[in-house]
Amino acid sequence: MREMTEVERKVALSNAISIIRRNLPEYTYECQDANSIDGLYKPINNIEWTTGFWPGEIWLAYLETDDELFAHVAGIFTESFRDRIIRKVAVDHHDMGFLYTPSCVAAWKIKKDAHAREAALMAADQLISRFQEKGQFIQAWGTMGARDNYRYIIDCLLNLPLLYWASEETGDAKYRDIALRHTQTCCANSFRSDWSCYHTFFMDPETGEPVRGETCQGYKADSSWARGQAWAVYGLALAYRHTGNEKYLEMFEPVSKYFMDKLPEDMIPYWDLIFTSGEEPRDSSSAAIVACGFLEAADSYEKRGEYEKARHYRSLAKQLMKALWDKCAVNKDDASCNGLLRHGTYSKKSPYNTCTPAGVDECVSWGDYYWMEALVRLGGGWKSWW
Ligand code: GLY
Repeated sequence: MREMTEVERKVALSNAISIIRRNLPEYTYECQDANSIDGLYKPINNIEWTTGFWPGEIWLAYLETDDELFAHVAGIFTESFRDRIIRKVAVDHHDMGFLYTPSCVAAWKIKKDAHAREAALMAADQLISRFQEKGQFIQAWGTMGARDNYRYIIDCLLNLPLLYWASEETGDAKYRDIALRHTQTCCANSFRSDWSCYHTFFMDPETGEPVRGETCQGYKADSSWARGQAWAVYGLALAYRHTGNEKYLEMFEPVSKYFMDKLPEDMIPYWDLIFTSGEEPRDSSSAAIVACGFLEAADSYEKRGEYEKARHYRSLAKQLMKALWDKCAVNKDDASCNGLLRHGTYSKKSPYNTCTPAGVDECVSWGDYYWMEALVRLGGGWKSWW
């Protein structure tokens, strides 16, 4: 497969920044919805698990352009996120990292905005309040302790960097400790012998013992939801960086291979990896997430002096990016769409899953964000906020 060239990367990045700039007036005091409808995102209040991605895109645009307009708008979102966590609006779930890392941790790292730091630390406190001693995991959704929600989900690996950051920032090890314990539980249970992963995993509320894997957004319990596998790829690469535990890098390799082996010829994943050909919808966002995971791991391999592996994963990332550029990237002159990446799938109903259908073959906010992150990462020198 061909790799994205540096010229293509620059064109793609400038194209993405133009779309982000064009969207600023509509999404300054309102957030971008989780997915587009017929190619267009509608504005919403700051209530979804996904609203951190849009400010994350704006911060990335700021880093690329030094245009203070981007920093100004992203700063308005910092206040919105601070208000949300102070008033505890729709924060009864584990997605504090997705919400507060690309918005407030980014704002703190880039602008030393004290309100952003305060908000992100409150979000970290909220996240650890969902830790279950019995089973050693962060409960994803629902009433704490309820048997029908006594589970974690693979996506949570991306919420944990907020906790590593909170420990570094405060000197208090309790956040990191919970992140480590959750990661251990996740790695012990969520992967099958072929290195595909379960989307969600139930634990026993009385004994804390592992019970069973289930799906919510995947096709069925024992298939591999493409985005779940993608969260696992990036999550393991991040777990290695934050812990230095080689086991996570060792797991990263076969988990990544499983994802790559299931891709169709054009490299845009189907929404569940059980599908490898045919007319099922794709999920381009999974490819963008995996590209970021590969670039993250490549940096780690380079630091370890494993240059061949670093080259290998960087090349795979560029191949995914080339496929996304050719097949999914939105052209800045296309007024019919206000996202960056088409052909994402949020939640597709199957006869066996429990999701509420949403955003099938649409732009999805995290797909746009990780596409942008990968474009910036590929240019080199990006200081991660994850
Ligand atoms: N974290 C939920 C999703 O990826 O759809």
